[in-house]
Amino acid sequence: MTLITGAAAGIGAATATLFAEQGATLALCDREASFADGDGPFRRVLDVRDSVAVQSFVGAVVEQFGRIDVAVNNAGGTFASALLDVSPKGEAALIAENFTQVTQLVRETVPHMPSGGSIINVTSIEAHRAAPGFAIYGAMKAGQENLTKSLALELAPMGIRVNALAPDVLLTEGTAYLSGDRIGTGLPYQPSPMPPLGHWGTSADAAGGILFLASDLARFVTGITLHVDGGNLAAGGWHRSDIERT
Ligand SMILES: NC(=O)c1ccc[n+]([C@@H]2O[C@H](COP(=O)([O-])OP(=O)(O)OC[C@H]3O[C@@H](n4cnc5c(N)ncnc54)[C@H](O)[C@@H]3O)[C@@H](O)[C@H]2O)c1
Repeated sequence: MTLITGAAAGIGAATATLFAEQGATLALCDREASFADGDGPFRRVLDVRDSVAVQSFVGAVVEQFGRIDVAVNNAGGTFASALLDVSPKGEAALIAENFTQVTQLVRETVPHMPSGGSIINVTSIEAHRAAPGFAIYGAMKAGQENLTKSLALELAPMGIRVNALAPDVLLTEGTAYLSGDRIGTGLPYQPSPMPPLGHWGTSADAAGGILFLASDLARFVTGITLHVDGGNLAAGGWHRSDIERT
């Protein structure tokens, strides 16, 4: 069975849909109150920064299904602000949102994960480059990437694989603003123009990568980052001059 955090929208929702199409049993959570409504897979409304709620969620999942084969740490996010304008409270929230909750979920789930299990941490291209206006988010995603490698080695003797998937510019509810002309960080920087592939990505593009990493097709793959970014990381400072950023 597969546990996915942040499953009400964007990459988490697309991943849940794709896994369900493949016949996976799902346990989902999200902090959106409306997520509780309706039929469908096992689901709970909770904020992954709430350690007590996470503990009780994993407990309920294990009680219902007896094991967790795949854990997708997808919930995360940020707000745009220069570091000097981020309050200590805002910083603590970003660290909890993009790092601490991942280590907690790993600690809670691994004892219930059999050999052959797989953990996928959804990180970001910002883990691999400067992130002006998103400095703490970028630092925490970079931390998640290093954590992914260390965990891959720590859990390899148990037959559990750990990988990261680093998206960039997949148009979701959370990133719709990035496709506009400017983003409001208050800093004189803007993200890369249109990726080399010439179009924005979608949540389904990330979901496909997550399915691959979770599946037996990736049974010899651990400790890596799969970049789902239309070529943006490879491009570095280069961008296509024959296409508009729209
Ligand atoms: N979309 C992209 O281009 C992109 C780029 C880089 C990284 N990411 C990463 O991908 C992941 C998903 O992003 P997305 O674009 O699908 O975002 P999104 O905002 O469209 O969806 C995120 C979902 O997670 C939920 N969520 C957020 N914080 C939560 C919390 N603390 N507890 C419980 N639920 C929470 C939200 O309610 C929402 O339903 C995030 O970790 C994000 O940092 C996305």
